[in-house]
Amino acid sequence: MAVRKDSPLIVGLGDGENFLASDIPAILNHTRRTYILQDGEIAEITANTVKVYDMDGNPVAKEVYEVTWNAEEAEKGGYAHFMQKEIFEQPKALRDTLAGRLDAENLEVNLPEIEENLEFYKSLNRIFISACGTAYHAGLVGKYLLEKLVRIPVEVDVASEFRYRDPLIGRNDLLVVISQSGETADTLAALREAKKRGARVLAVTNVVGSSVSREADDVIYTWAGPEIAVASTKAYTTQLLVMYLFALYLGRVKGTIDEKFYKEMVSGLKEIPQKVQEVLDAEDKVIEFARKHLTKEDAFFIGRGLDFAVSLEGQLKLKEISYIHAEAYAAGELKHGTLALIVKDVPVIALATQEALFEKMLSNIKEVNAREATILGIAFAGKKEIAKVTDEQIYLPRVPELLAPILAVVPLQLLAYHMAVLRGNDVDKPRNLAKSVTVE
Ligand code: M6R
Repeated sequence: MAVRKDSPLIVGLGDGENFLASDIPAILNHTRRTYILQDGEIAEITANTVKVYDMDGNPVAKEVYEVTWNAEEAEKGGYAHFMQKEIFEQPKALRDTLAGRLDAENLEVNLPEIEENLEFYKSLNRIFISACGTAYHAGLVGKYLLEKLVRIPVEVDVASEFRYRDPLIGRNDLLVVISQSGETADTLAALREAKKRGARVLAVTNVVGSSVSREADDVIYTWAGPEIAVASTKAYTTQLLVMYLFALYLGRVKGTIDEKFYKEMVSGLKEIPQKVQEVLDAEDKVIEFARKHLTKEDAFFIGRGLDFAVSLEGQLKLKEISYIHAEAYAAGELKHGTLALIVKDVPVIALATQEALFEKMLSNIKEVNAREATILGIAFAGKKEIAKVTDEQIYLPRVPELLAPILAVVPLQLLAYHMAVLRGNDVDKPRNLAKSVTVE
């Protein structure tokens, strides 16, 4: 006997066997014929019969739903690609990563993962962050947050460099390694190098039981769920989220963070899954921009501070799946060389979410505008000034501006995705790349 109550439940109709499952992919290897139970429906099942009743015990005549898609498509849950599905799963992934760590009532962050060794965390001298690719970009945002909120010097290295640079790391230092898979060879080697030198290692990873999680001293998991597409999306935003939680937690215990600001940030984090959903809902604007530029072979991403860190992630995403040559620049650096490449109609994505840097950013955008580039501006709602110096704009819903990276990266992910689709590329398996880089 089975009853569907709130959570999904389906019946698979086999030959001399029947099945119960929470979703279709689980039974596709056995049968394609199913009953989709409605809430409150009761199923009575034997090997050869399936009867369905309502809550009052009246028989319900169910229609057989014949599944026409294959297991892989089923796992994509109706999306064309895993990457698209994973981009749209971000609100859920963020909610899951916040669960149990954000006390919504008292507006507090709890990190039981590091509480046991709080004395170490309170007294540590320096923080190092090491990771590869997208995870490294999350580390760059982490540096900014930790230095601002905890007032501790932070060094960030790509893991393949860290392990060979004879790093000055030792006791009382912390190495944070960030890795979706937890199996990246260089990241693992950085972890081992730091441990050898006496440092404590905190891993931020998405895979329970991975090598990184087993070898680190402490682990904070991102609960993003499996990430299948080679291009990392929901892993990145959940890694960012963990960086916010960690910096806020540490800032509070070390007394380096103003209480009012702390509460504003926690309250902002509480809203962040919903705000990401709002950005996703504005997908059409990105598709429009992608359509206009799909034949271009170069693109530039510019920003300052946190926006520069996000620009780096935007250019990597575009490169790896659309194969368009893309570069990210700290906007202030443009006139030191790269401005020579900005010519008529080159697409430039300009991020301007940071108030203190906004005027500076506007003047950098004007420099690009004067060379007749086509500019997509990304700023918070209400920053209308951006419209005067850019061709198209995406406005992000308001959150405390330090949280901007989690929102600002979403249109960049969508841009890369749509460019790649429109160019006919294999989005989930881009050429020359593997999901997990377990060799050096
Ligand atoms: O599994 P990891 O997070 O350690 O992987 C690190 C990089 O290989 C990964 O982020 C890579 O850069 C992605 N393909 C980017 O989308």
